[in-house]
Amino acid sequence: SKDAHIVFTPSGKHGDFPIGTPVLTAARNLGVDIDSVCGGRGICGRCQVVAGEGEFAKHKIVSSCTNMTAFSSVEERYASKKGMKEGRRLSCQAMIEGDLLIDVPAESQVHKQVVRKRADVRQIEIDPPIQLHYVEVEEPDMHHPSGDLERLFSALKAQWGLTDLHCDLRTLQTLQPILRKEKWKVTVAVENQKTIIALWPGFKEKGYGIAVDLGSTTIAAHLCDLQTGNVTASSGIMNPQIRFGEDLMSRVSYVMMNPGGDKEMTTAVRESLDTLIGVVADEGGIERSDILSMTFVGNPVMHHLLLGIDPTELGGAPFALTLNSSIHLYASELDLNISPDGRVYILPCIAGHVGADTAGVILSEGPHLQDEITLICDVGTNAEIVLGNRDRLLACSSPTGPAFEGAQITSGQRAAPGAIERIRVDPETLEPRYRVIGSDLWSDEEGFAEATKSSGVTGICGSGIIEAIGEMFLAGIIQTDGIIDGSKATVSPRVQSNGKTFDYIISDKEPIIKVTQTDVRAIQLAKAALYAGVKLLMEKLDVTTVDRIQLAGAFGSHIDVKYAMVIGLIPDCDLERVKSAGNAAGTGARIALLNKKARKEIENVVSKVEKIETAVEPKFQEHFVNAMGMPNTVDEFVNLSK
Ligand code: FES
Repeated sequence: SKDAHIVFTPSGKHGDFPIGTPVLTAARNLGVDIDSVCGGRGICGRCQVVAGEGEFAKHKIVSSCTNMTAFSSVEERYASKKGMKEGRRLSCQAMIEGDLLIDVPAESQVHKQVVRKRADVRQIEIDPPIQLHYVEVEEPDMHHPSGDLERLFSALKAQWGLTDLHCDLRTLQTLQPILRKEKWKVTVAVENQKTIIALWPGFKEKGYGIAVDLGSTTIAAHLCDLQTGNVTASSGIMNPQIRFGEDLMSRVSYVMMNPGGDKEMTTAVRESLDTLIGVVADEGGIERSDILSMTFVGNPVMHHLLLGIDPTELGGAPFALTLNSSIHLYASELDLNISPDGRVYILPCIAGHVGADTAGVILSEGPHLQDEITLICDVGTNAEIVLGNRDRLLACSSPTGPAFEGAQITSGQRAAPGAIERIRVDPETLEPRYRVIGSDLWSDEEGFAEATKSSGVTGICGSGIIEAIGEMFLAGIIQTDGIIDGSKATVSPRVQSNGKTFDYIISDKEPIIKVTQTDVRAIQLAKAALYAGVKLLMEKLDVTTVDRIQLAGAFGSHIDVKYAMVIGLIPDCDLERVKSAGNAAGTGARIALLNKKARKEIENVVSKVEKIETAVEPKFQEHFVNAMGMPNTVDEFVNLSK
């Protein structure tokens, strides 16, 4: 019989095949990417295609579905059980009867889905290290004795082309009952096409992974479907290590003062993680054993404590890490209860102060893929700073202290209902108006008192304090040297003497909310530390401006970038190009979970990042002193006057 001409879209791959060839076979032959877990048995439904008419390049296609065999009983069964969209066919069942144009929809293409769609960042294809394969294994035969595992290997070779396999011990221990449960039909999870890490009787549709952002304050976990990349459930909890110390250095001191303190903190964080796994598994409606892999990002201290490594060395110069490369482990080694041979991947650290969280931010924001100069600042009690482009990337950290988090600020508080987050100061009257978290109304709008009755107005959060100081500066209450101008007391009673210096009263009702000279100093010190770090990197990179700025972390996502620039916290840049990167570290963990090449990529990039130690750089002090001024004593901010 004559051959039929087959064209696949969107790849454009085409060829001639004998009538009766299954569409999936033709696709495989041409190297067209079509997904499959069941190996062409009409069970998984991953191989769906659409037969269409039309013209493709030089190839005129004359007819449509009539050139495929009719719906088979296998397809009927699948469609009635799981449902199938109009016009769809299972490519493993439909056979070629004549010339055809066949479209492979995005969800049937293994490598064409993306972790996220954001115009300003590259798209990451879904290509996880762990894949599921359904196989039918031969039964044992007295006349040809062979092990169950060897017959499983032969089946995986014959049906999936997998060779040189081995099997993890805990999975091996379950092999015999699982093989026999569903009459020698099993689904196998294979890592890197080499290692069997889990087994299920019969057909198993989905495997899962969890990406974790292990922060010093909160731990966030995202349960992801390993095939689609979709986040099935997300949850977060407070890091229980807080009871050993608010910030990182106090936790390191706890270890230094209390023998065995590191063990306590390791146990605490692992227990919370295990609880969190249970929460997202419940929310996603899956079993813990369905979770095959986890990825982690976190700062060096969190990283060491998770691994059960004493972080004492990170407490002082030269801040040596135990290791900076990435780590592959069994989840069981971290006491995490997922699939028994489930895997953990921890992203690499960059330096003693710049951890796997920053590696996650780089992976997510991709400064190393661009020509333009990107500045990334992740601001917490320490600021991690990354600057550069595809040619060079530099990183450093700078001790900003807790001021940006509202700590050690007279009226400072955590971002919670009742905290002032937005503020404007009238430059004539010096009267403030503000908005608090939990209400959309400004303080001078009707209904404000009612709207804030339950929370009250309780303090100022970290982003609110930046805005307050920025507005006070713009209104002339704060001078370029950071001093609150006492002569303004004659303009408004809101500027008040406290005997030595002056305060600015935002709210005179209980609790009184004010900005003191000490508060302004604390913010000046914090912003100068950040700016000096940035400036140092700019000098090393030999650039005088940056093209775009990404602010990572919780602080970065709440702050109004205009005020960050007004007080000189970030360098001069087109304000349109200053963006919040949101939870970029967590996104980095998710990318590493879903794309095996991304792991290699970040390992590679991190190994080339140039680390700058601010403490030993003579110019740091000079930049720091200049950055104490508002917005800066020497640097101009041309974008502010635009
Ligand atoms: Fe699984 Fe076609 S390959 S249904």
